[in-house]
Amino acid sequence: MTQPSVLVTGASGYIGSHTCVCLLQNGWHVIGIDNFSNSSPNVIRRIEQIAQRSMSFHLADIRDSSAISELCRQQNITAVIHFAGLKSVSESVSKPLDYFDNNVCGSVTLLRVLQQEGVRQLVFSSSATVYGEPNTVPVTEDAPTSATNPYGRSKLIVEQMLSDLIQADPTWRIATLRYFNPVGAHESGLIGEDPRDIPNNLMPFIAQVAVGRRHELRVFGDDYPTIDGSGVRDYIHVMDLARGHLAALHRLSTHAGSFTVNLGTGRGISVLQAVAAFEQASGHTIPTRRVARRSGDIATCYASPARAAALLGWQAEYDLDKMCTDHWRWQRNNPDGY
Ligand code: NAD
Ligand code: UD1
Repeated sequence: MTQPSVLVTGASGYIGSHTCVCLLQNGWHVIGIDNFSNSSPNVIRRIEQIAQRSMSFHLADIRDSSAISELCRQQNITAVIHFAGLKSVSESVSKPLDYFDNNVCGSVTLLRVLQQEGVRQLVFSSSATVYGEPNTVPVTEDAPTSATNPYGRSKLIVEQMLSDLIQADPTWRIATLRYFNPVGAHESGLIGEDPRDIPNNLMPFIAQVAVGRRHELRVFGDDYPTIDGSGVRDYIHVMDLARGHLAALHRLSTHAGSFTVNLGTGRGISVLQAVAAFEQASGHTIPTRRVARRSGDIATCYASPARAAALLGWQAEYDLDKMCTDHWRWQRNNPDGY
């Protein structure tokens, strides 16, 4: 009998790589797959270097059912963490079919294989984007959901599909994790977020300004009803997020049934507060320019992390300073990414 293993899709991506480190350090046998559409093969060596353990990695696409079937048969896979997917809101608007193919059809293919192979524990990467424009904050898991772009719709469709699957076959145990805004990097500075194009998200953009790759940050909006007129979000350290996956896996292995939880800190931070913290952490001034609101943006969004605490015994530990310090170490040591 081989050791129980976890299959990680999107293992070389930003959140996947940090979660693989945590899994290895906590004794899991990790089988990672990725098609490298948004990541580098170099990541795997670095995960192993940090964890001081090796993982099994396979270049594979989640839409390739025979490759996934074969992995399930070769390895004693007990659970899957499903990160693989495309994640750019703006790209999803111009290429919606790519997003539905990858995120929705890819998940269908993966789930079919798992069903055939008898794997019934799944952790799914969802997003706070499914809350659309929240009516109240902090946002609880019972808040209404909606989609305002194809990326968000692809996440919502998969969530709904998973809920139908659980209804049809209650032997499934599925954890749907709604991430708020992941930032930061492993404190070794060896792995971190490495956007291929101009970053859409705030923290990687600030970091590229600090390291001299971009000359200024455009702050979208100056008249939101917030502390300083800029948007407020719930930034969460990627290692806290990674630990949340271990807690979810533990819950699935010890309790029947499925659940949906927010992974956030419960604290709202404005763009200007994030800039100030990054300046402090990096010792660099971040030139900013206030510009019009970005279409599709909302004023304020932060999580109620209460259910995650109650169900998983998990809460975020790292503050904004630690997020910025670790993000900066990664950016400074790897100015051009991997
Ligand atoms: P990422 O792009 O860094 O990682 C995703 C990985 O999946 C990449 O390495 C990519 O190459 C791989 N991939 C994509 N399509 C694939 C396919 N068909 N087969 C195999 N591999 C494939 O993104 P991330 O930030 O690590 O996000 C991981 C998951 O979390 C995604 O599903 C994303 O939608 C979700 N999420 C991310 C955020 C965020 O801000 N980073 C927020 C909420 C939810
Ligand atoms: C974005 C996505 C969301 C996704 C999330 C995490 C949009 C409309 N939404 O959300 O679907 O789940 O990322 O990947 O893209 N900001 C600036 N200047 C910048 C970049 C951002 O001022 O150059 C501001 C934004 O207006 C916002 C805050 O920074 O107030 C955070 O932005 P971002 O990191 O893109 O995250 P979200 O807007 O929460």
